[in-house]
Amino acid sequence: MTTRETDFLVIGSGIAGLTTALSLAHHGNVIIITKSSEEACNSYRAQGGIAAAIGEGDSARLHLEDTLRTGVGHADGDSVEMLVQMGPEIISLLADWGTPFDRNETGYALAKEGSHSKPRVLHVTGDATGKGIIDSLLLKANQHPSISFVSHTMVVDLMMEDGECIGVYAADPDHGTTQYVAHYGVVLATGGCGQVYQYTTNDLVSTGDGLAMAYRAGAALTDMEFVQFHPTALHLDQNPMFLISEAVRGEGAVLVTEDEVPFMKKYSDWGDLAPRDIVSRAINQETTHGHRVYLDARQQKDSFASRFPTIFATCMEAGIDPRVDLIPVTTAAHFLMGGVKTDRTGRTTIPRLYACGEVACTGVHGANRLGSNSLLEGAVFARKVAQSLSSLSRKTFTTLQGADESLRLCNNKQNEDQWKQQIQQLMWKYAGITRTKDGMEQGLKELKSISLQLPSSCLESQNMLQVAQVILESALWREESRGGHFRSDYPETIEIWASRQYTVEEK
Ligand code: SIN
Repeated sequence: MTTRETDFLVIGSGIAGLTTALSLAHHGNVIIITKSSEEACNSYRAQGGIAAAIGEGDSARLHLEDTLRTGVGHADGDSVEMLVQMGPEIISLLADWGTPFDRNETGYALAKEGSHSKPRVLHVTGDATGKGIIDSLLLKANQHPSISFVSHTMVVDLMMEDGECIGVYAADPDHGTTQYVAHYGVVLATGGCGQVYQYTTNDLVSTGDGLAMAYRAGAALTDMEFVQFHPTALHLDQNPMFLISEAVRGEGAVLVTEDEVPFMKKYSDWGDLAPRDIVSRAINQETTHGHRVYLDARQQKDSFASRFPTIFATCMEAGIDPRVDLIPVTTAAHFLMGGVKTDRTGRTTIPRLYACGEVACTGVHGANRLGSNSLLEGAVFARKVAQSLSSLSRKTFTTLQGADESLRLCNNKQNEDQWKQQIQQLMWKYAGITRTKDGMEQGLKELKSISLQLPSSCLESQNMLQVAQVILESALWREESRGGHFRSDYPETIEIWASRQYTVEEK
């Protein structure tokens, strides 16, 4: 088995991982390990943008109020305060690092999204914000002499010594196991777990690996019942599903049924720009009543193609012309508000293990995330992680225990896909937009039966299974409805549950 040493180890190459690496690179050597290609991450797929209170008439206070209201009383006020205060400096940093944010005659162009009281969403090339940010960060990171990438390599587990995280075991199909040890610490920036659901906008890599390995190592996970379902994925049979950005509604598009009847005003005073949990449940309700749901963006006419070039091109390829046709949409798992529990510096409950981005639960989203706060969170907490991690003492290693040489990726992809599909289907059925006690118990029973048969070499499926179990257990525990967690057997939001958190740790 090969051993590689570095000062800092970052797992994941989205906005959180790259910002952490670039912020740490002047303190020492950084290795970034990523499971697929460097670009394969949810950050890259982000369309709408990144939120920051920089517009005329906007303020950190308004951004904070919108974030807290959307989080349905469950977000951590101090963490949100830090997030919104740091918004403007993060935009300057990303711009300095090369992100070409779209501009208009007055400065940065700002869009409106659901539940925002002001236009405050910055974007790149209209609807390719994630690509714009990640391309510029990747260019910078690849040019940095202290940063190296290890791609197409799956991290299997965390290496622990005396209760501290000292590195990771990684496997690839060709080279077996390598252990990577880090003198300062390890940063999980592995993203979320949308792939545990049958329908998701998340990249294929989002199988919850960071959540599962942190859990196995004994780190606390919290708020795992809070899953955000995006209301408007393009209704085609695809994995991942293509997103029709909320910003399309921000520009005036309206949700309608097949007979062109708008319906969102029935469900919220915010209408089509209500928080995502409300819009997703409304769509569910309409489809339960036998309707098909569409986005009507025809009022945008020719400006659609220039404002949303990627969405326009994808729709046209699918034979839908948004200038004249209704766009068929459906809900899809989009974002995990819960995750590995961290403090405001990204520290987990395991010494020398940090987490930032979607894998982390920093408390900023509460029960439901405000649109375009996720890229912001990734970058803000990456800066905090780098600050905290670089101030730790340097650890030296004398002896290192060897990893289990039998660790291998599943070499029968088709077989693994069958396991994944079973997990995805049951999670959509039992832990989706509407949940019940009986359904969730049945889901846990079915997961148990899968766990008895699932080969240990199917690493992603093992991770998905573990994360799915935690989501179901957490959702069963919360006997109320709040944000992304809706139970038809407990449909009310109950005040005393606002401050309660379900935290799991493997003993
Ligand atoms: C969108 O563009 O609708 C998604 C942005 C986000 O998830 O914040």
